[in-house]
Amino acid sequence: MRVAFVGKGGSGKTTLSSLFARYAAAHGPVVAIDADINQHLGLVLGAPETPPPLGGMLTEIKEYLRGDNPRIKDAASMVKTTPPGRGSRLITIDDPFFPSCRVDGVRLMVTGPFAEDDLGVACYHSKVGAVELYLNHLIDGPGEYVVVDMTAGADCFASGLFTRFDLIYLVAEPTLQGVGVYRQFQQYAADYDVAISVVGNKIQSPGDVEFLRAHVGDDLLTWFEHSAAIRALEQGRPFTLDDLEPGNVQALGVLLSTLDARPKDWEKFGRQAIEFHIKNAKAWANRAVGADLTAQIDPEFVFGPTLSAAGSGR
Ligand SMILES: Nc1ncnc2c1ncn2[C@@H]1O[C@H](COP(=O)(O)OP(=O)(O)OP(=O)(O)O)[C@@H](O)[C@H]1O
Ligand SMILES: [Mg+2]
Repeated sequence: MRVAFVGKGGSGKTTLSSLFARYAAAHGPVVAIDADINQHLGLVLGAPETPPPLGGMLTEIKEYLRGDNPRIKDAASMVKTTPPGRGSRLITIDDPFFPSCRVDGVRLMVTGPFAEDDLGVACYHSKVGAVELYLNHLIDGPGEYVVVDMTAGADCFASGLFTRFDLIYLVAEPTLQGVGVYRQFQQYAADYDVAISVVGNKIQSPGDVEFLRAHVGDDLLTWFEHSAAIRALEQGRPFTLDDLEPGNVQALGVLLSTLDARPKDWEKFGRQAIEFHIKNAKAWANRAVGADLTAQIDPEFVFGPTLSAAGSGR
């Protein structure tokens, strides 16, 4: 199951991604991916090192994932939205090809920071494209978790990335700005049939909860109190989930059980992968590669686990 944490800058995406990843690790394998321009997830998780960034090995990733799919002639003609087809290498959550480091039972992967020499946001999008490729080729099942800490604001909606998840948690502080981002996201989510739930954060009073409820209604799933334990974590003190306030542990439980309860919809996943690939091909990729990339779509390929075993061997 895949989940992304999105929201306004500073709302708590990284904090809640890291807490959720640790919490979920007690229930199954977890990959946590830092896909933010400012890479903080490793720090908050207490990772001893930074793994090699996925954004720096896009060609190798493409080469690996295209396998012997005859519709993708080389890594250079594979773009972030190129969908898998027969012959593509489909991966599982524990695929060792993707560099990671282990911390607290979580496998951390990173896209890499926004470098000085990245000209314009488009370049950062190509780094995040590594995550899109990873998720497009991943066959995950119940009790396996991919947690992605996203860039602030509506950036993830600039690509198809936001349709690659089973659920999106929108972290919102009880402020007008916090709920403002929700409105923006709600529209995109509705247009693409993407499940989104609001997670309140830094709640200090019942009035804060009422405020959120008044603005987001039933989309408010749960909330985290303003936490002394999180502050201590931020100050670099030793931290375990046992230090967390009971209400906040309970909120983590709600996040996990809600994600677990989401039905997997591979048909929609495949349909949207193709939809976004066609969009990207027409908008820029055909021109960039100098070929009609819609020919990469394999009409016989079926997304999901049933054909993965048979499909990957071909
Ligand atoms: N429930 C909480 N209680 C106390 N402090 C919190 C809580 N949640 C987050 N914080 C603090 O708020 C600050 C911002 O949190 P965080 O870095 O997780 O936000 P973010 O959304 O990832 O920010 P950015 O947009 O910069 O990536 C941090 O100092 C963090 O420790
Ligand atoms: Mg962050």
